[in-house]
Amino acid sequence: MTKKEATGLEDKILELKKKRNAVILVHNYQLPEVQDIADYRGDSLELSRIAAKTDAKVIVFCGVHFMAETASILCPEKKVIMPDMHSGCPMADMITAQDLRRLKKEHPKAVTVGYVNTSAEVKAELDYCCTSTNAVKVVNYLKDKFEEIVFVPDKYLADYVSKETHKKLIFWNGFCPTHVKILPDDIKREKKFHPFAKVMVHPECLPAVVAMADAALSTSQMCKFAHESEAKEFIVGTEVGLIYRLKKDNPAKEFYPASEAAVCPNMKRTTQEKVLWALEELKEEVRVADEVRQRARLAIDRMLEIV
Ligand code: 13P
Ligand code: SF4
Repeated sequence: MTKKEATGLEDKILELKKKRNAVILVHNYQLPEVQDIADYRGDSLELSRIAAKTDAKVIVFCGVHFMAETASILCPEKKVIMPDMHSGCPMADMITAQDLRRLKKEHPKAVTVGYVNTSAEVKAELDYCCTSTNAVKVVNYLKDKFEEIVFVPDKYLADYVSKETHKKLIFWNGFCPTHVKILPDDIKREKKFHPFAKVMVHPECLPAVVAMADAALSTSQMCKFAHESEAKEFIVGTEVGLIYRLKKDNPAKEFYPASEAAVCPNMKRTTQEKVLWALEELKEEVRVADEVRQRARLAIDRMLEIV
């Protein structure tokens, strides 16, 4: 796409966005061209908070399906649309509501905590929701109140949270296919090339990778950490899309991806053209059935009360 075409598209999106009274929410892993048209960029927690508060009538959610669903759970009176309905999260698909009901039957006394990377049906079965920003806080809050805690679906986030809170967790065998591509050898190699760089990784990474990091953080926490740190160089152990935002927000600092293989194909499905089509046709809409939505909302509200 030429610069001129890109600008033309951006103008059209801006015009239609105003006409539709829409807001464009963009996850930190989205393509640069999509980050550039965002009203708000953020991690899962920030984007759901913004969705809950916005006055706009339409939310164009540029991320993956569970994120748009969470926005719809929080504001059912708004129209939440996704530019590409096929942008799913393979980790979220690793557990179904039926799986969770079975797990709960096996551990009847346990409180259930689920990562926001889950479907609305799974959230409806949870006691508490959490995101990578607040998972440790949520489990710290619950650990003395309940003997047993079920934590789904990410076994590596569960491992990280369990170590941080000193609480044994009953976990599920889920994982992020993108973050497991970052290997301890990648961190070793990058540290050799950039000995003064700070290493920040997402807690969805392999435990051996997390153990080598200076900090395990959500995507927006990484932005904050990089901004506030005195360090000038950073090795970034998460999906490569975050590098664009880090560089844009901190032009005097250097950011090196821990692995170029850490690409989430679902996050790359959204383009400026698809955003324009979504605004033109006001679709595809993401809606959650009322009965599921009300139960899922409870788990999200309980999380928001703690944090
Ligand atoms: P964040 O909430 O940290 O942005 O993470 C979302 C996600 O899908 C990570 O893979
Ligand atoms: Fe899901 Fe992993 Fe993609 Fe995040 S990076 S949306 S957890 S597949």
